[in-house]
Amino acid sequence: MSDGLHECKNAMLALEGSTVELPVWEGTEGERGIDITQLRGKTSHITLDSGFANTGSCVSKITFIDGEKGVLRYRGIPIEQLAEHSTFLETAWLLIYGELPMREQLKKFSKTVAETSLINESLHYHFEGFPRTAHPMPMISAMINAMGCYQPALYASEGADFDIAAARLIAKVSTISAFAHKKTVGEPFRYPHPGLDYASNLLHMMFSVPYRRYNAKPEVARALDRILILHADHEQNCSTSTVRMVGSSRANLYASVSAGVCALWGPLHGGANMAVIDMLEQIAGSGLTTRDFIDRVKDKSSHTRLMGFGHRVYKNFDPRAKILKEQCDAVLQALGANQRILEIAIELEEAALNDEYFIERNLYPNVDFYSGIILKAIGIPVNMFTVIFAIGRMPGWIAHWREMSHDAAARINRPRQIYAGSPLRDYTPLKMR
Ligand code: CMC
Repeated sequence: MSDGLHECKNAMLALEGSTVELPVWEGTEGERGIDITQLRGKTSHITLDSGFANTGSCVSKITFIDGEKGVLRYRGIPIEQLAEHSTFLETAWLLIYGELPMREQLKKFSKTVAETSLINESLHYHFEGFPRTAHPMPMISAMINAMGCYQPALYASEGADFDIAAARLIAKVSTISAFAHKKTVGEPFRYPHPGLDYASNLLHMMFSVPYRRYNAKPEVARALDRILILHADHEQNCSTSTVRMVGSSRANLYASVSAGVCALWGPLHGGANMAVIDMLEQIAGSGLTTRDFIDRVKDKSSHTRLMGFGHRVYKNFDPRAKILKEQCDAVLQALGANQRILEIAIELEEAALNDEYFIERNLYPNVDFYSGIILKAIGIPVNMFTVIFAIGRMPGWIAHWREMSHDAAARINRPRQIYAGSPLRDYTPLKMR
């Protein structure tokens, strides 16, 4: 077993008249897991855990979450401290390599990211094949996979090849994302500017046009950088588990993170930040009161969810939502942006937090509840919200792919199932059906 774990006691499973002993492992923060790796061999039974809510898929040293207490730490450091003092690139290094970088390491990493942010000219032609109406997420996933064609033999999780791939992915996902936006709005691509910080460069590539350079206000660049930090990792969420799943077959880093982008796209995962703005605008435009909307959500037959609320792991405040709620007010004031949707968001939050339905189910605002409001105020189009999430999550995906590749005990991920289909039957020829 991995270091950082210790065996605390055994669990006894009584099954069909006999007892099976299963080891129990404890991690550095006291989380315990029953080790069932021998279960099928010893009992011929498997476990059934829809949505994997009780299943630990790996042992990881990257991110710690205590969902009951609303705690999130990257490599042991509280998210609040990173949001306050760090930058996205420094946090990326921390996640991937495990320690805060020394001054020289950060300088070199930032320089490599800045200098590798151009994409190969021939990749520009790929954008021509996408319809203008395409959502940017599949474009980004496809482009990242295409980038893998330039480093197809990358299976190393250590050394210069890995270092350059990690920096390239962080650099180029921002360029590809800005180009996807330019494709959608029909404007010429703007090349990266190596003199700008990461967030300002992304905004420059998205919003500069040939006759007018976009210069991000420092508070706007800082707010975006902070959003990227808050999204940089979240342990075994759907997209990160996808990256690990794909990587477990020894698919290379580009293919693995390209799959992560697809998983993130769904509205129950990264797509929720778009859904929050749609919901808030729908309420603002419809004349519905927030109370009416909450009642609709509670009526299961309406199939309406309060988007940006609830989380598989957090059964208390999502700490990222707390940070962004404070940030929201500051950004809207700095930009003089329309406060109405923020007001609706605050009313909805208050109504939900005092309502039995939400209290009973431990439903609190998650990171997406406030991130969309900030992104909208900055001028990021709604279809790019999930893209910003993907840019932010890139270091986490890379860190998990690397950790899994280092793990000598890692095997190809291959869950089992319980078959509930038809029992054995014979094929009926077409003329007899
Ligand atoms: N609005 C109304 N009811 C909800 C909501 C919500 N947002 N979320 C959960 N519930 C109810 C759900 O109907 C169920 O009720 P009941 O017990 O009566 O059947 C109960 O709460 C448990 O919900 P669940 O769907 O079993 O919970 P889950 O852990 O499978 O789902 C979730 C977690 C995030 C998918 C879900 O809370 C949700 O759909 N939220 C809205 C979408 C959203 O904001 N997603 C962003 C997640 S944070 C970013 C990320 O990490 O991806």
